[in-house]
Amino acid sequence: MKATFNQLTEFLLRQQDFWRFEPFLQSLHFGYPSAWQQNMPQLIDWLTKLDLKHVEALQDDAKLHIAELSPFFPEIVELQHSLNSFVLPTEIAQQPQGAESRLLTGVPGRKMAQILAITQEIDRQSGVKGPWLEWCSGKGYLGRLLAYRYQAPVVSFEFQQALCNDGQAFADQQHLPMCFVQGDAFDANAKTLFESKAHVVALHACGDLHTVMLKHAVEHHCQAISFSPCCYHLIKSESYQPLSVTAQQSALLLSRNELRIPLQETVTGGERVRRHRQTEMVYRLGFQALGKDVLGFGDYETVPSIKKSLLDLGFTHFCRWACDEKGWTLPAAVDWCHYQSIGEQQFQLMEKLSAVQGAFRRLLEWWLVLDRMLFLDEHGYDVTVSEFCSRAITPRNFFIQGIKRS
Ligand SMILES: C[S@@+](CC[C@H](N)C(=O)[O-])C[C@H]1O[C@@H](n2cnc3c(N)ncnc32)[C@H](O)[C@@H]1O
Repeated sequence: MKATFNQLTEFLLRQQDFWRFEPFLQSLHFGYPSAWQQNMPQLIDWLTKLDLKHVEALQDDAKLHIAELSPFFPEIVELQHSLNSFVLPTEIAQQPQGAESRLLTGVPGRKMAQILAITQEIDRQSGVKGPWLEWCSGKGYLGRLLAYRYQAPVVSFEFQQALCNDGQAFADQQHLPMCFVQGDAFDANAKTLFESKAHVVALHACGDLHTVMLKHAVEHHCQAISFSPCCYHLIKSESYQPLSVTAQQSALLLSRNELRIPLQETVTGGERVRRHRQTEMVYRLGFQALGKDVLGFGDYETVPSIKKSLLDLGFTHFCRWACDEKGWTLPAAVDWCHYQSIGEQQFQLMEKLSAVQGAFRRLLEWWLVLDRMLFLDEHGYDVTVSEFCSRAITPRNFFIQGIKRS
């Protein structure tokens, strides 16, 4: 694992010109980064011939994406192959039966699929099956299933009192051995919930919420730790603070913004969402070009988020709305078509830039996942990782389990 991590680190550092940038901001410069032009003119030739439909096909098909980019970055295939050898094969999760389906009544479809898949992953590992600590539990959907299936106590820890109340009421009604505790994960008192005999679980606890859980769990020698990481960028510090000694000693330093890269998948929600995004990006890019020419913008000016329904009113309306929001005054005559067309051209460029960065997305996520796995290994845990469900159900589908070595 350490050797693969180091190989991955070196690769990411060597190729950083191809993933360490913001496609939106780069596209405002009307061209590819100069390092690409110097070091990989053949990539630029390929991108120049690519049309938007083809870029969308790459966004929709991870295998095709890697296959088409691999002539330019052959190591990606080799690395992906080594990384895949760590992933435990998963089985399709069963539909809930009988009492379990009653416990999951009202749980949204994708969430239910995740919970069933995770329970299955936990089931086939040797970790203790309770008592459980469900970290950042929400209403405790996962905890319900664990409490019922293993008839073992669950402490569900959650910040929002309303979610605790709902979860506790449901658990009491179903006679489940669950106890909700309201609190803040970053409060020193939260530590007291970690017991050495416990199995700690966390489904999609964002950024610092799951790293603080990991630190407390290893400090208290908890028997087992099972979690799916997400939102790596939701951290308090400006830059990523690696957990493992191996990652701390590596030369790869990630800013908070760069931690967003693994999450920047554009294909979620189908054709309508994709077209809305396209319209919004075209308008935003076109507005930056307009602002540069007539409002004295520098490299980039921020524009607030907009209600999606307002996009239907067209580019001119978007620009006027942005100016009202920010207190800018537009001249009486503006060549709207010209700036919208710039937005359209820059959008194409942005998508091509993203297609290149996208080939590194999963590898960056792997780097973060391996850091967590190495951290557990360094603290005396046997570690496994699986992709607990398809990326259509959730793109954050890594599931890491650590079982304390005896
Ligand atoms: C992405 S949700 C996941 C909820 C649940 N695990 C699930 O998958 O349904 C993250 C949860 O963390 C809770 N949370 C956020 N900040 C917290 C904090 N500082 N301490 C404890 N819980 C927190 C949120 O209220 C939310 O319920």
